[in-house]
Amino acid sequence: MPKYKTALVTGGAGFIGSHIVDALIRRRIKVYVVDDLSTGNKKNLNPNAHFTKMSILNPQFPKYLKRIKPDIVFHLAAQVNLRCSVEDPPGDARINVMGSLTIAHECGKLGVKKVVYTSTGGPMYPEGARIPYSEKTPPGPISPYGISKRSAEMYFNYAYHVHGMPYVALRYANVYGPRQNAKGEAGVISIFAEQMLKGAPTMITGTGKQTRDFVYVDDVVRANMAAMNRSVVGEFNIGTAKQTSINTIFRKMKKIIGYQLPERHVPSCPGEVMRSALSYKKAQKFLGWEPKVKLEDGLKKTIKWYQKK
Ligand SMILES: NC(=O)c1ccc[n+]([C@@H]2O[C@H](COP(=O)([O-])OP(=O)(O)OC[C@H]3O[C@@H](n4cnc5c(N)ncnc54)[C@H](O)[C@@H]3O)[C@@H](O)[C@H]2O)c1
Repeated sequence: MPKYKTALVTGGAGFIGSHIVDALIRRRIKVYVVDDLSTGNKKNLNPNAHFTKMSILNPQFPKYLKRIKPDIVFHLAAQVNLRCSVEDPPGDARINVMGSLTIAHECGKLGVKKVVYTSTGGPMYPEGARIPYSEKTPPGPISPYGISKRSAEMYFNYAYHVHGMPYVALRYANVYGPRQNAKGEAGVISIFAEQMLKGAPTMITGTGKQTRDFVYVDDVVRANMAAMNRSVVGEFNIGTAKQTSINTIFRKMKKIIGYQLPERHVPSCPGEVMRSALSYKKAQKFLGWEPKVKLEDGLKKTIKWYQKK
């Protein structure tokens, strides 16, 4: 008998959310999806999911929650773009803070058994902290996006203490894989795939020596399933602990695709983080999770999906 019979996935028509929906349906869990389709796409949606097009900011959303009363909520709906958060911090906070607080508050009152919240790794930790960042590093977000994600974690912690509603906040590294759109927080692989497959000039920002930690979406889905099944509470990094430069990504993808044009660089954005990677030791210990998909394999699978698209 599964512990959870019904799940709500907010942002379930998006890149990562739609893969979580698929995994839950494979486990015979009844899945509800709320998504306003601002960056998501109905094409991503599993036909067996019960979809409602709605913003989590809609005043009707709490009523909807009461009606479906899910056993577990995977909360992914968010303003996902760090750069946009700098341009419009209140807009970011409306969705990422107020939307998440609504979920923490309403789900806590409803007696939802668990919330798996989607947080972020890189923007959470202060620059200069030892890499790979561990959860022991005190958070020090400086972007509105990082601040809103940290605020939401704290509200879920509040709901845990006040309503006794357990939560797991998964702090992802740069997630990549099929269905990613180029608008996301970490769309470099999807941007390169689209441009290279079109034979269009592909731009690397800055020197390209900046590093990121790339984790494949199937590994992220397994982390969500472990967060659902294990009796744990708190924040967990989900990354590979490895740094890969953007130049390396460019060269690996160029080779797989057979892209002919030379590397081109454009000026980097002010304040761009130069190095980032997340330790996954805590997830390994408490969630029994570690990344399994090698970068080359993940890139090949991703490129194959873009080729079919
Ligand atoms: N992709 C990454 O590398 C990465 C890294 C760290 C954290 N995250 C987080 O993972 C989550 C999913 O991101 P993604 O990469 O799949 O991006 P995505 O844009 O594909 O998914 C976000 C989904 O949320 C929906 N949405 C946005 N605002 C909404 C609202 N007000 N009400 C209802 N639905 C709304 C969008 O339509 C979209 O389907 C986000 O919370 C993001 O911050 C992503």
